[in-house]
Amino acid sequence: MNTKELLVLALAAAQVAGAADFCDYNRNGKKDAFEDAAQPVEKRVEDLLSQLTLDEKIGQLNQLVAPAGDDKEFFALMRKGAVSSYIWTRTDPAYRNRFQRTAVEESRMGVPLIFGMDIIHGAYLTFPISLGLACSFEPELFERAQTVAAREARAEGIDWTFAPMCDLARDPRWGRVAETCGEDPYLSALCNAAQVRGFQGADPSAPGRVAACLKHYVGYSAVTGGRDYNDSEITEWELRNLHLVSFGAAVKAGALTVMSSFNTLEGIPAVANRHTLTDILRGDLGFKGFVVSDWESVMEMIRWGYAADKADAARLALNAGNDMDMKAMAYQPNLAAEVKAGRVTMATLDEAVRRVLRVKFQLGLFERPYVDETAFAAVEKAIDAELPLAREAVSKSVVLLKNDGVVPFRPGLKKVALIGPFAEDKTELIGCWNGRQTAARVSIAEALREALPQETALEVVKGCSVMTTPPTITQQDGRIVLDRAAVATDPGLELSKAVAAAKGADIVVMAIGETRSWTGENASRASLGLTGRQQDLFDAVAAAGKPVVAVVFSGRPLVLPRVWDKAAAVFYAWQPGMEAAHGICDLLAGKASPSARLSMSVPCDVSQVPAYYNGPTTGRPGQGQYRDTPERGSRYCFGYGLTYTTFAYGGVRMEGNEAVAEITNTGTREGTETAQLYIRQNVCHEGVRPARELRGFKRVTLKPGEKATVRFALNGDTLGYFDRQGKHRADAGQYTIWIAPDSRSGAPTAFAFGG
Ligand code: BGC
Repeated sequence: MNTKELLVLALAAAQVAGAADFCDYNRNGKKDAFEDAAQPVEKRVEDLLSQLTLDEKIGQLNQLVAPAGDDKEFFALMRKGAVSSYIWTRTDPAYRNRFQRTAVEESRMGVPLIFGMDIIHGAYLTFPISLGLACSFEPELFERAQTVAAREARAEGIDWTFAPMCDLARDPRWGRVAETCGEDPYLSALCNAAQVRGFQGADPSAPGRVAACLKHYVGYSAVTGGRDYNDSEITEWELRNLHLVSFGAAVKAGALTVMSSFNTLEGIPAVANRHTLTDILRGDLGFKGFVVSDWESVMEMIRWGYAADKADAARLALNAGNDMDMKAMAYQPNLAAEVKAGRVTMATLDEAVRRVLRVKFQLGLFERPYVDETAFAAVEKAIDAELPLAREAVSKSVVLLKNDGVVPFRPGLKKVALIGPFAEDKTELIGCWNGRQTAARVSIAEALREALPQETALEVVKGCSVMTTPPTITQQDGRIVLDRAAVATDPGLELSKAVAAAKGADIVVMAIGETRSWTGENASRASLGLTGRQQDLFDAVAAAGKPVVAVVFSGRPLVLPRVWDKAAAVFYAWQPGMEAAHGICDLLAGKASPSARLSMSVPCDVSQVPAYYNGPTTGRPGQGQYRDTPERGSRYCFGYGLTYTTFAYGGVRMEGNEAVAEITNTGTREGTETAQLYIRQNVCHEGVRPARELRGFKRVTLKPGEKATVRFALNGDTLGYFDRQGKHRADAGQYTIWIAPDSRSGAPTAFAFGG
């Protein structure tokens, strides 16, 4: 039997045993160091690297999108060692094993492929989008959710997820705020580090773990006007203290990979920005893994007008520190000539390959390149066991913004009307990155029927569509022309039916919002209202005079002044995922109690964006506002959210270097309060710091009349910032401290640090 036959036999046997120990076999008659799992990773990397040809090295930097069919060309590339990774869009582990087998058993050096995929807020079991889950102010929830997602993904054969998104939400017009953990760097850092732990665990090579990828590096969320894929202009001061904070925390948590972003920064495409990719990411943040580009962004440098052709683009990106080329096929045919011509040094190429190989070893891909095809069948069945976690995540992420005492429902309701296009639609609730799931488990209508007592009648009216048929757009002489005379229409509009249902009910629940298809990537919006004719529907129903509970579904903070004013209660539910309906109905019926806080400020008006809370005081606090509106920034600020009870905060006192406050439940129901620590450095010569910055929070659950003491340590970590060299430091001096229920309230307390 030759070596290869031995290898195949051994692999088959090992798969039966459930642990393919590929490295016990060798491909050249001697056991190389890289094939020996007992050797240190660095030794294995160097050994393998030293045996790769120039073309095989470049192959390790090439990522393709998995073909839909059995494409011969792809198999030929794998045999040549010209593919390192696939974006895996298929759900068939047997097919994935065929790809892997070709790379491992039929290429010269047998380097395994790494299969990547966007597992963002769930694979099979979908959780709320990150913007929503961040409202829980409970980072461990992210860790628990992503542990489930990782297990499901790995069972399918996905080794690597393109998450978490560490971009900081700044402008709600940008559709991708849905994927962020909100506008605050501190909250976002904790949530993203927790996601890394959830995906990778303590040992990313352990079963059920995947490599995390921090994206999009860097400055993507600051795109001009919130228009996706645009340029960003961020000062180094803001970059260090806002945009990099979450990346830094997630790198510290051990993230194995990073994705560079689509935007430019100071005119340089992020994929070719040596300052951010090398000086900062590797130098200052200490990142050791590899960087993958975003989808074709290496090639997009040509369209930006930064690179002349793919060879130019490949050279610029690799030399800047972007290791892997996603989908553009710019590295694969071009880098060899660049190396031969000396425009890319062998040392630079080797370093990029080293980084990719290191992650493949760290993930255990050489030992376990294949996925257990039989175990995969159990994934969907296992979902049931995890449903309570998804349900808990929903009820902890839905924010109650207003309540005139109508929720939770009082006993004895005779009739409830449920109105709106989200009432029976399960696909809109699932979220913008729905993984392998296309719909929520049950609709709001079904869950509400379950939640209401038998004797309470429920009438459901759709009322209108989520979207209208848009006016026609035509091309004239190469220009796009919108036919303004053709008004958007909704053949499904049923205002009188909705009004009649409202009139006949004790209370109305309106399930409204924005269409999911206008959230996420390439989904910027200029207006932040309800989509289609939903505002007309709301106005008509609200005018019927019955109390309305608005449940708003969206991937961003929507600006809904008439809903805020006329509804008796308002919940912002975001896109809650598979258990959307149960989680929300638990809140309506009082089975769960709202505790979520806004992870992103809700602007008064689109003209007031951005409306984030953590800007400076300016030299003229309160002045410089718009003359033509009394509205200021946000209607509901970061950190805001109601519960079903009330809490009183005692004054903040200092006990040594601890800020301490007493919180009392002054209401009649048990509830969970999220006490938030905000700080301000009164004088900072390095640069102006925000008027307030979140630097701690604690969730406390109290029964009526019960008290709790919350304590926050005030030290270098809590008070510090990043200076212009990227060093974290805290200055001695005067600070102002708040312990408060949100970013706008609370009484200031003075604190002297290090004096
Ligand atoms: C997105 C990334 C995503 C990638 C792969 C890109 O268009 O910007 O967030 O990870 O596609 O799906």
